[in-house]
Amino acid sequence: MPKIVFVDHLGQRYETEAPVGRNLMQVALDNAVPGILGDCGGACSCATCHAYIDLAWSAHLPDKSATETFMLEAVLDERPTSRLCCQIKVQPALDGLCVELPAEQA
Ligand code: FES
Repeated sequence: MPKIVFVDHLGQRYETEAPVGRNLMQVALDNAVPGILGDCGGACSCATCHAYIDLAWSAHLPDKSATETFMLEAVLDERPTSRLCCQIKVQPALDGLCVELPAEQA
């Protein structure tokens, strides 16, 4: 099972084992990772699952949809690495992925 590490803005690490097919928002909730709320249930309409994912992983991530891009424009600290966790499904190639959590969701 792929390992996904969530890291909060203070450097606290939350190491998880992520079932293939779950999305990163669900994995965070399954493991009580603080800072990921998932208020809309993964419908890409709340942005409470905002996180930063290093661009080195881009080849293994789905492209942002127009809706995800629109929602990310509303977050407080959008960066080139901003993604919505509910839009990224776990796959074997994501083993070792590090997901950084924004301070405003702490
Ligand atoms: S859970 Fe609402 S946008 Fe991801």
